[in-house]
Amino acid sequence: MTGYKGHGVYSVIIGTGSSMPEKVLTNFDLEKIVDTNNEWILQRTGIRERRLAGEGESLVTFGERASRSALADAGLEPEDLDMIIVGTQSPDMVVPSAACLLQGRLGARNARAFDVTAGCTGWLYGMVVADTFIKVNPHFKILVVGAEIISSRVDWEDRATCVLFGDGAGAAIITGSDKRRGILSTCIEADGAEWEALCVIGGGSMHPPTHEMVDKRLQFIRMEGNKVFKLAVPNMERVAWDVMADAGVSPDQIDWIVPHQANLRILEAVVDRLGIPVEKVIITLDKYGNTSTASIPVALNEAVGDGRIKKGDLVLMMSFGGGFTWGAILLEW
Ligand code: UT7
Repeated sequence: MTGYKGHGVYSVIIGTGSSMPEKVLTNFDLEKIVDTNNEWILQRTGIRERRLAGEGESLVTFGERASRSALADAGLEPEDLDMIIVGTQSPDMVVPSAACLLQGRLGARNARAFDVTAGCTGWLYGMVVADTFIKVNPHFKILVVGAEIISSRVDWEDRATCVLFGDGAGAAIITGSDKRRGILSTCIEADGAEWEALCVIGGGSMHPPTHEMVDKRLQFIRMEGNKVFKLAVPNMERVAWDVMADAGVSPDQIDWIVPHQANLRILEAVVDRLGIPVEKVIITLDKYGNTSTASIPVALNEAVGDGRIKKGDLVLMMSFGGGFTWGAILLEW
């Protein structure tokens, strides 16, 4: 499903921010925790190290820091925000939402606030929801955050998953423009039939928190990595083609790809199929691991901050995650 054209209103990113924990966990540190080694992790994933939340830090800690830096970048105050959307799969609490907790911390009292649950695609889904709101309320200023304390969902006895993930937060603020720039086309899709390949089944109402549930380790991420890999590549490729076709853009016109960062081999396979050189991919996976919903806004903020992404550049974003969910956004910076 590509979407929502012809209104003459475009969503423009006016500020970005990110915040990562200070605590670093290297592949060599992991060798002391589970039966793994640096070579396996690096060759199979491209990850060298990841960041983990420390004592007393939680999702709202990093969400707030990333949001305040995006607000400063946009020259806005928290009260200027009309809406806050948080994409996450590791909210601090069941109730309230991560977005409401963040709204309270920021003092963004004029902002409606809600979470989007769409696996690792949560921030990208959140941006598409925000973009749709902007089409009808062009003056809105919407903060879209991707934030995870995914280490709280990781089974530190399961080497197949614990080596992959990291914590952190990224944020972007969008508003409307009547010029053709900013978000040019979007596409989001889902397939719930294969949910068991990537899930956290405990802690919800089907398997509420009980001693038995915890003894069975149902509160942790389970993933059939290989299956996810094989579905991620063609689906990310296809939505990339869809948003490019929708905006009348060809692969050689793309300046930068800012993808969800789960595995370097996935990214190499996708860009190879698109015929786009891997040098155009903004990669943060090596230092942060898979930060789920945070990965795209964190990478975007870094590439804008260090001057790689410049005004007028065409930026392609795509993601794939549990659900399954996947999607792409094409924007002109
Ligand atoms: O962000 C949401 C979406 N998530 C993804 O996109 C993740 C997609 N999947 C992947 O990135 C990859 O499938 C993984 C990195 C998770 C795994 O790579 P793989 O090449 O698919 O490896 P595999 O799961 O097929 O495992 C290969 C071998 C197995 O041993 P045998 O059966 O060949 O003897 C595993 O037991 O590697 C073993 N293995 C490990 N060895 C050392 C699995 N994890 C580890 C480990 N250290 N940490």
